[in-house]
Amino acid sequence: MGEAPGTGSAADFLPPQITLPSLREAAAGCRGCHLFEVGTQTVFGEGAADAEVMLVGEQPGDQEDRAGRPFVGPAGRVLDDALDAAGIDRSATYVTNAVKHFKWQARGKRRIHQKPNAAEMTACRPWLEAELAAVGPRVLVLLGATAAQTLLGRQFRVTKARGRLLESELAEHVTATVHPSSILRGEPAEREANFAAFVDDLKVVAELL
Ligand code: URA
Ligand code: SF4
Repeated sequence: MGEAPGTGSAADFLPPQITLPSLREAAAGCRGCHLFEVGTQTVFGEGAADAEVMLVGEQPGDQEDRAGRPFVGPAGRVLDDALDAAGIDRSATYVTNAVKHFKWQARGKRRIHQKPNAAEMTACRPWLEAELAAVGPRVLVLLGATAAQTLLGRQFRVTKARGRLLESELAEHVTATVHPSSILRGEPAEREANFAAFVDDLKVVAELL
């Protein structure tokens, strides 16, 4: 069986009104790229419609795909702990992903995360742009290379620019840091230091609130 290609852009599915409820409903039927057949469901962003802070990850993982909610699995627990440590209340933020379907490959019974490619990132970007327009956060926090490169360009390097305030029209304050999954994937001996560095980057955000 061939892969259904999708239309090439989520823009084909945008609703006439850019409000979070109408976006969420429209995104549930998105076929902007072939991933609509790979993931179980569209995992749209969630959080406060008037959030001061928007956090953007890469794409839903295995547990997010099942739950239909962003950052509820292992990476979400790291994010929760880091936000806590930085003094940021997650319930006052809006949390979403650059790509809204889970891309995976079977390895035995497990579904292994696959990084979204440039075409998938481009196809899905209209949802993220619409969320930005609807929420209008004062502070935009890009978690990892996929989120940062989707919005800031492919030459952007998180390792060089993390924890700094960036010049951008996307929001009053824009910053990038590592993805919480990188802490889980990294050397166990370095986990504590990597977590502390992630918290330090988020403290830059906390100071703006
Ligand atoms: N990783 C992400 O980037 N987003 C999620 O929602 C979960 C894991
Ligand atoms: Fe649409 Fe994004 Fe899902 Fe592709 S990944 S089908 S563009 S919501």
